[in-house]
Amino acid sequence: MTIATANTPLSRLDADALIVPVFEGAKEERFGAAELIESGEITGKYLDLTLIHHPQGVAAKRVLLAGSGKPEKFDAPQLRRMTGAAIRFLKSKSVKKIALALDPTLANAAYVSAAVEGAILGSFEPDRYKTGQEDKKSVESFTVAIEGGSDEVAGAAERGRILAEAQNFARDLVNEPANRLTPLRMAEAAQKMAAEFQLEWEVLDREQMANLGMGALLGVAQGSAEPPALIVVRYRPQSGNGTAHLGLVGKGVTFDTGGISIKPADGMEKMKYDMAGGASMLGAMRDIAQLKPSIPVTAFVPCVENMPGSRAQRPGDIVTAMSGKTIEVINTDAEGRLILADALHYAKQQGCTHLVDAATLTGAIVVALGHLNVGLFANDDAMRDRVLAAAKAEGDRMWNMPLEDDYKDYLKSPFADIANVGGRWGGAVTAAMFLKEFAGDTPWVHLDIAGTAWIDDNKPYISKGPSGVPVRTLVRLATDWQ
Ligand code: BES
Ligand code: ZN
Ligand code: ZN
Repeated sequence: MTIATANTPLSRLDADALIVPVFEGAKEERFGAAELIESGEITGKYLDLTLIHHPQGVAAKRVLLAGSGKPEKFDAPQLRRMTGAAIRFLKSKSVKKIALALDPTLANAAYVSAAVEGAILGSFEPDRYKTGQEDKKSVESFTVAIEGGSDEVAGAAERGRILAEAQNFARDLVNEPANRLTPLRMAEAAQKMAAEFQLEWEVLDREQMANLGMGALLGVAQGSAEPPALIVVRYRPQSGNGTAHLGLVGKGVTFDTGGISIKPADGMEKMKYDMAGGASMLGAMRDIAQLKPSIPVTAFVPCVENMPGSRAQRPGDIVTAMSGKTIEVINTDAEGRLILADALHYAKQQGCTHLVDAATLTGAIVVALGHLNVGLFANDDAMRDRVLAAAKAEGDRMWNMPLEDDYKDYLKSPFADIANVGGRWGGAVTAAMFLKEFAGDTPWVHLDIAGTAWIDDNKPYISKGPSGVPVRTLVRLATDWQ
């Protein structure tokens, strides 16, 4: 889909369909819509869509009146979704050239970027392995049209395109089944992306990780015939502005059977998305390479397959992490925190001064927050505020969770320094508490995305499947860094 902006008058704008937002209670006299509004057919209710053929007074072949809800509730996230819903609707009708008419009063950078993101995210489909789709419907172009719009608009549209394409890149990776995306294949995908966008990369193999003492990560990997990989992707700014170095650490479990503490069969197929945290870090790096923040950013993605093979680790095994801490593995299904323990320590050793990790870490966060909010845990208030501000700016919902030291008692082991699970209660907090031991004093935020990385049902504005959350937040965090 090509993205463009236009400042031509709507009457002359050429398109197969022109999306026009209508608000509740507003009068729309153009296109021959007045009658439809008067009769109550069009209400402006949020995401209500009405297609008008042969609209009056415009060159476009169709006008899609897009319900935008109450004007006082309308913001960039609302526009993102509304545009996604409109695109999905028009795409299903094989419309190719689409434009959005944005009122000059809504023509700021945040709105323009959000509209482009909505269009690109909305047109993503997770069905690439369905055959017989040669005549598949796809949108050719999306234009944001603002009468009398300025150059700033074109820049914002470009930023939106970069952000959403990288988010879709992450979604494609997450959507890959585990037979096609093994740890080594994920490393290949990272290399390819890094080469395309001129990023430095490195992949550590089992032997290199063993030499570094990554016993926690390797303990998880040993149950699978697929070798593990630790992906490192580096961005360095041309001229640095200080001492911060952001580390992005993402859980890359290409499939989580649970290992010897095996999961029930029902729904296990979804565990291909247990690498969504890692994919979002690679997506963020793809963006960062293009948007060029002023601080260095390095992504670390430990990739393993958690399998119950004959060499698999057992409950009760004690492993030694790279930090030197010993861990009693009570439950082999709590594997994400084990691989992240070593990756976080390695990120610090590589010079990262600030850390963010993203991981589909616990079912408990889904119990706590449902599918709407990312669970955010931090050991540092300033770092927490930075990430929350970035999330707010990008429309990713995140909720601050507690992380007091008292929770550490839940992770006591009689045999080792720490146990990898904390019992029945507060499962998302104890998982975060475990990671905190390895983040140490480095300002760090942990994002538990188990509830938000996968969308269970189709929505009007987005397809079911991987969401690509929190790619945009991570990019905003890096590009807004002062
Ligand atoms: N990958 C899972 C967490 C998960 C659950 C992600 C549901 C997405 C949806 C993680 O490795 C896991 O199995 N966690 C266990 C931890 C428990 C053994 C302490 C869990 O949440 O049940
Ligand atoms: Zn697990
Ligand atoms: Zn897992």
